Amino acid sequence: MTIRENKSPLALEKQAASDYPLHEIVGGRWSPRYFSSQPVPKEKIGAMLEAARWAASSRNQQPWRFIVVTADQPELHARFVGTLMEANQKWAQEAPLLILGIAKRNWDHNDQPNGYAWYDLGQAVSALALQGMAEGVYIHQMGGFSKDAARAAFAIPEAYEPVVAIAAGYPGVLDEAPDDIRQRELSPRSRKPLSELVYGGEWGAPWD
Ligand SMILES: Cc1cc2nc3c(=O)[nH]c(=O)nc-3n(C[C@H](O)[C@H](O)[C@H](O)COP(=O)(O)O)c2cc1C
Repeated sequence: MTIRENKSPLALEKQAASDYPLHEIVGGRWSPRYFSSQPVPKEKIGAMLEAARWAASSRNQQPWRFIVVTADQPELHARFVGTLMEANQKWAQEAPLLILGIAKRNWDHNDQPNGYAWYDLGQAVSALALQGMAEGVYIHQMGGFSKDAARAAFAIPEAYEPVVAIAAGYPGVLDEAPDDIRQRELSPRSRKPLSELVYGGEWGAPWD
């Protein structure tokens, strides 16, 4: 099954302008700010969470935790949206699926700080994003939220740290989006060149 079979023909394509060809779920991933209200079926949400679950982690600690809220839980959905910064609330409130990514701060075995917890959570979210892409479901991660508000809203214990809020769903039909959002959606994706990010053999030496 390819992403094309799952994707709405109206979804905006923002393929990465990569120097080397990419698989379509990698190169085609981008972060929408305009979502359709169409609910994401539970099986697809489950598959995204399974992908996160099966990510690699240091010492197999699996320090990630997720709180999942859908639009058919209006009180919880509004509570989640209330933890977001205003600029994010504006568009993320339309997303039918909201997920809070949380890291367990300390190792299980000695209760000392786990310096890989954030790294591992990021890796799990990346797997979740790609599984979503394979099903036509896009995610948009947000650092713009209040950790304190999220902790209070969802009774998160001190040993765990809210790290990232995620809005997810099917991309909306862009023609129906407000002007400012449409402009942002249409802006091209950009990246630093590989030569600035990758070195061959020693720091600063060209790889390619
Ligand atoms: C940890 C993290 C935090 C982010 N925070 C926000 C945010 O608060 N608001 C927002 O609109 N986008 C946010 N983004 C989305 C990035 O701006 C976006 O991924 C980046 O511009 C690259 O765009 P692309 O994902 O479409 O390729 C965040 C992304 C990540 C990974």
